[in-house]
Amino acid sequence: MIADIVVGLQHGDCGKGKVTHHLCREGNYTHVVRYNGGCNAGHTIIHDGETFVTHHIPAGVFFGIKSIIGPGCVVNIEQFFKELDELEGRLGSHIRGLVKIAKNAHVITDKHLKEDSLDIEIGTTKRGNGPAYRDKYSRTGRRAEQVNILNSFLVDIYEELHNCDKEPVILFEGAQGFELDIDWGDYPYVTSSHCTAAGALLNGIPPQAVREVWGIAKIYETYVGNKKFQPDDAIFDILQSVGQEYGATTGRPRQCDWLNWNNIEKAIKINGVTNIVFNKMDIIEEINTWRIKEGDTISNFECGERMKDWIVGKLSKLSNRPRIYFSGNPNGI
Ligand code: IMP
Ligand code: MG
Repeated sequence: MIADIVVGLQHGDCGKGKVTHHLCREGNYTHVVRYNGGCNAGHTIIHDGETFVTHHIPAGVFFGIKSIIGPGCVVNIEQFFKELDELEGRLGSHIRGLVKIAKNAHVITDKHLKEDSLDIEIGTTKRGNGPAYRDKYSRTGRRAEQVNILNSFLVDIYEELHNCDKEPVILFEGAQGFELDIDWGDYPYVTSSHCTAAGALLNGIPPQAVREVWGIAKIYETYVGNKKFQPDDAIFDILQSVGQEYGATTGRPRQCDWLNWNNIEKAIKINGVTNIVFNKMDIIEEINTWRIKEGDTISNFECGERMKDWIVGKLSKLSNRPRIYFSGNPNGI
């Protein structure tokens, strides 16, 4: 068994959907598995020139690859069918047979949605995530296998990945990112799932299966939620507008800041990143300002090339020494 993992290194919205889509086209995957989160996620994908936003369904469906919502996820049944219908309408009826849900994934209920709608502390996406995971861990939750209408989509991940004829090559698609992880993010301003590469392993594969870990970052930072994140400087309003930094799920404006190097380095180390993609290079070029934060210090570069040199120099000192991609292309890397 071989597994590659796509993991966000920041606060989500860093281009995981784009990279997953790219890897599905290039790689020879037998399965794509979403490993955490629910429909709080919004993965923007451009396929054949058309824009799609997926919330639950992994990007394997765009290339005829079996796409599983893993046991680490929570599923909103209504949203799942809505998304399935939309993808079917746009991609063709064959995709229905590709989509599976792990029978031990948990379900987001109306009660969870109602409770989350009352949140004023964290600034959640109001998709019922926190309450659904709380019930999972307090052992009062409901699993997908208990929901009749999901019967034809259910899969036993163990049977599927360990007792099959063909050696599986799996792409694990993460949601959110390291800075929103329940254990590693800025608690309580986090989501309720395991967003790290380790979170992928909780979906039923052994650590030895992992081949590549694709860490995805944006060349600047964004965050959506209730804490103050964006420094008081009008340049960040420009960055927000040029970068179109509005939530794919909720439409909320994303607060912006410069790339936070200490956080990136920590995320690379903890996730065991072997390949790193810095997205949205085109946006930082357009605003013509190249800055990186390291603690309280802000480095200012005269052009994009100098900034890239600095990043490459920093990464070459890490024991991980990831391969580096700078991308300014919304369609690929
Ligand atoms: P929840 O995951 O809806 O409980 O929200 C918890 C925090 O994570 C909030 O600050 C949300 O804005 C943030 N969040 C959750 N999912 C995403 C995402 O996919 N992208 C960006 N932020 C997210
Ligand atoms: Mg997103």
